[in-house]
This record gives sequence, structure tokens and C-alpha cells, in this order.
Amino acid sequence: MNPTSKMRIAVLISGTGSNLQALIDHQPSAHYQIGCVLSNRPDAKGITFAQQAGIATEILDHTQFDTREAFDEGMIAALSRHQIDAIVLAGFMRILTRGFVNHYLGKMLNIHPSLLPKYPGLNTHQRALDAQDTEHGISIHFVTPELDGGPVICQSKFQIHTDDTVETLQKKAHYYEHQSYWQVVEWLATGEITLKNGQAWLKNQPLTTPIELNSMKQSESIS
Ligand code: GRF
Repeated sequence: MNPTSKMRIAVLISGTGSNLQALIDHQPSAHYQIGCVLSNRPDAKGITFAQQAGIATEILDHTQFDTREAFDEGMIAALSRHQIDAIVLAGFMRILTRGFVNHYLGKMLNIHPSLLPKYPGLNTHQRALDAQDTEHGISIHFVTPELDGGPVICQSKFQIHTDDTVETLQKKAHYYEHQSYWQVVEWLATGEITLKNGQAWLKNQPLTTPIELNSMKQSESIS
């Protein structure tokens, strides 16, 4: 595939970067190219994954900025140096300003470890356990100014068993995230999914319910 015909994405991280690594792994045959990895934390482990793959990195320590607005403007300036077409949030632990979100509206995705609209925000696995849910999962959605509130494109579901803990649920969530995120980024790159009038569309049809990808069958388990 001609690299110039690929959509250039920036992956924004704050920590481990396992979703970043999965996106890197699928890059050779994909219509997206990771033009930059940006971290707001200088010690984010995911930076090394980018470096090992020869991807440009931008470290913008948010504590060095006076306001959230100044930090987000700094990010826009940094990202524009890399001719970025779209933003992929992968464990980026900062609330974004309306200005940043609107700058990339329709071109920014997030992955969240719950079946949205259930459990936006933090501690999703603990909240699912506390509620004695029997089903849990992950969601991939367009980013809009409402935190974790943009139109959901795809979800993967799995069962919660009585012996599950925050750690085992996190492991399951990561397993499904790594299988699904690159696929949705690929659809964004090929133009198959779009955001129109505040709704997600797949191939010119509004998505009335999220696409279900890679959900766990009743008989399956992750060791
Ligand atoms: C993922 O579980 C994602 O859903 C959430 O943050 C976590 C990031 O994990 N937004 P990693 O840094 O990609 O390993």
C-alpha cells in the first residue's frame, strides 16, 4: 500500500500503551499510519513502544502549562507539526477542552473500558463488580465535548464470573480492546465510519445500535 495514501493518525497516551502497541502491530496492512505518539506524562511506558517502532514522539507534560486551554493549544501546535489527520485516544488521562474536541470533531476516537453509556469516567471495573453486573465490556466511540458521551461505534462484551476481580476484568477488557480498536481506526481511515449531525454512520447508514465486535461466546474464556 502506498504510505502517502494512508490516513495519518496521532495516538495520545498517558500510560502503559498496550492499545498503542496493538495499533502498531496492525499498521503494516492498514490504511492508517501512526505519524506521532503524544504523551502528557514523560514516564509513560508506551513511549518506548513508539520509539521501538521508529514513530515520532511528542512529550507535553501538562503540569508545565498554566491552564487546560494552554495545554490543549500546545497539543494542537505539536500535532500540526506531524500533519495529523485524526486522533486516537488510547488511555489518555486528560479531560479535553471543547476547543480541542471541536478542532478534531469527527476525526477523534476513544476507547473506554465499559459498555457505554454505563460507567463513563473512572474505575469502571470496580463499579461493574459493585453493581453485581453479569456482563461487561468495552466501547469505542467518537469523541464529543461530553466526557465518554460521544456516539458509540462498536462494543465487545464479555461475562463477569463470580471469581472475577478488577485485575481479571482489566485483562479481559484489554484482550478485546486489542482486537477491536485497530479495526475501528481502519474504518475511520477508509471513510466507512463517519460522524454526521452528532451520530455515527456506517457506510451511509446511521448506526442505531453499536456494532458488536469480537464479543465473548458463552463457552469461551480468557486465561
Ligand atoms: C484501556 O483500558 C482503555 O480502555 C482506557 O485506558 C486503558 C489504556 O490501556 N481508556 P493501555 O495504556 O492501552 O494499556
